This record gives sequence, structure tokens and C-alpha cells, in this order.
Amino acid sequence: AKHASKQRWCIKNVRATFPKREKYAHKGSNGRGLVIGGQQTMPGAIVLAARAALRSGAGLVTVATIKENLPIVSSSCIEATYHLLPNLTDRLTDRDLEAFEKIDAITFGMGIGRDDSQLLSDLIEKLDKPLLIDADGLYHAKPLLETLLQHKAPIVVTPHYGEMAMLTNKTVPEVKRSPFSISRQFAEKYQVYVVLKGKHTIITAPNGEQIVSDQGNAGLAKGGTGDVLTGILLTMIMQHEELLPALANGCYLHGTSADYLVEDNHTERDLLATDVIEGLSQVFRTLS
Ligand code: APR
Ligand code: MG
Repeated sequence: AKHASKQRWCIKNVRATFPKREKYAHKGSNGRGLVIGGQQTMPGAIVLAARAALRSGAGLVTVATIKENLPIVSSSCIEATYHLLPNLTDRLTDRDLEAFEKIDAITFGMGIGRDDSQLLSDLIEKLDKPLLIDADGLYHAKPLLETLLQHKAPIVVTPHYGEMAMLTNKTVPEVKRSPFSISRQFAEKYQVYVVLKGKHTIITAPNGEQIVSDQGNAGLAKGGTGDVLTGILLTMIMQHEELLPALANGCYLHGTSADYLVEDNHTERDLLATDVIEGLSQVFRTLS
């Protein structure tokens, strides 16, 4: 295999690749994102992802979840629209597929749980939209890895080290020992983009090209911050022409938001995932 170089992504790379906000933009041109997930016991994950996607500049965000979640999720994110699924296990209906027709990119898996589900295989087979798979969605992806090549649009997976170990049948220490080569093998084999999350996050393209994002701090070592990253990445995917810089810019925004917050009003101890969403404004200001 070809060994492309690993690039450390910094502000100068972000400035060179970040899309301009069109003066005559309308909500359609800023991207329509779909967030699918949220079991009854995990509504927070989809709220965080949806709010992070909106704060990152998405034009429209639709959350597809079960009706039990609607009161809490919709009151926590009134800017989103909602699509009710009768459950998170059955195949998508024609009505669902029709509703998702105008969507520009999809993220699947936050708080979805690990019960058997047909949803992901339908998303892969029936909707040729960029698809980001995160969190419990990665458990659903494991038996479907061989089918990912059928998908006509890009696929992104965003595992932390434990999820990467699960996907590759390795142990966490093994992944820690060779995160670059394990990411590259996986990305090349299944032709997906891999965002391997940790203190340093390694982003790999299907051709093996790699970028390292070393922004962020231990304040992010808390439940929910991964869901925020997923929401940011959803928007970045919709707004960039190329995926590798889109993902690298998303990781930069997420980590730098946490870094600024810890320099100013927060500490690593008290930083919460919701703060990281609010901190994005400060980072965007440095980019224009
Ligand atoms: N330094 C810098 N960045 C960090 C650090 C650190 N020390 N620790 C974590 N991060 C960043 C990661 O790079 C990633 O972007 O915070 C984010 C954490 O994402 P996840 O690991 O996906 O965490 P999250 O999903 O929010 O919560 C953990 O994952 O294992 C499952 O079910 C488990 O609910 C749990 C969830
Ligand atoms: Mg996670």
C-alpha cells in the first residue's frame, strides 16, 4: 500500500479550505442535514448532534427519532424539524424515504442502542446520500461492512478507540499501538473515511491519505462531546466540496472551541458538551 504523508491540521489549513458564507445564501444552499437516533433512554445524544449541526451553520436540520423523545428533544432544539419513526428497528417506509429525498447528508447512530435494526442497511441501500455513522451506529455497521462499497455516496465512520477495536476485532491496546496503520487498512478496505477520535484525532481518506487534528483537551473526555463532533461534521460534509478537509475542519472547530473555553470562562473539569457548542462562535470569529 502507498504511504501518503500525515499532515497536522492547523489554522492556516482551515483558512485555506473553509467555505465562504454566501451573501445570498438561503437555508437550502447551506445544507439540509438529517440526524437519526435516540432511544428513549438516550435523547441527549441527538439533541447535542442537532444543535451542533445548526450552530455550525447548517441551513436545516431534521431529527428522525421515536415519538417518546419528541417533547424533550424538540423543546431542547426548537430550530430543528422532526420526523417520527414508529421504532428504531424496522425498515424505512416509502413515506420515510420520500421525506428524506431532499436531505443532503445523514448521520446515524447516536443513542440508537444496540438492538437489532434494519435501519442502517436501508440507509446504505436506498438513500445515496453522504452517510456518517457514529456511536452505537458503529455496532450496527459491523455486520454490514462488506456492503458499504455498494453505497453510491461517501461513508464516514467516527469511532473512538474502543469502537475501532470492536470494528476491527482488535484490542484497544493494539489500536493504540498502531492507530495510523489500522485506520488506513480499514479506510482502504471498505472505502470509507475514518475519524479515529482520541487525544489526537486521525482522519483517513479511502485512498489512505491522513490528517492529524491535535486541538482539544481533556475537558472533552466526557459523555456527549462525541455527539457534538458528529453534528459539526454533518454540517462540514454538506458545505465542503472535498471530504478530507471537511472532516479535518470539523475536528479543528470542535477541539479549538474546547481550547478557547478552557482558556477563558471554563476549566477542563467543568467543561460540558453543550459548552463546546456555544463556544463555536468564538472559533468562527477567528476564521472570517
Ligand atoms: N484530549 C482531546 N480530545 C479528547 C480527549 C482528550 N483527552 N478526550 C476525548 N476527546 C475528544 C475525542 O477526540 C472526541 O472528539 O472528545 C470526543 C469524545 O468522543 P466519544 O469518545 O465518541 O465520546 P461520547 O460519544 O461523547 O461519549 C462516550 O461512547 O463508548 C461510548 O457509550 C459510550 O456513552 C459513551 C460514549
Ligand atoms: Mg461517541
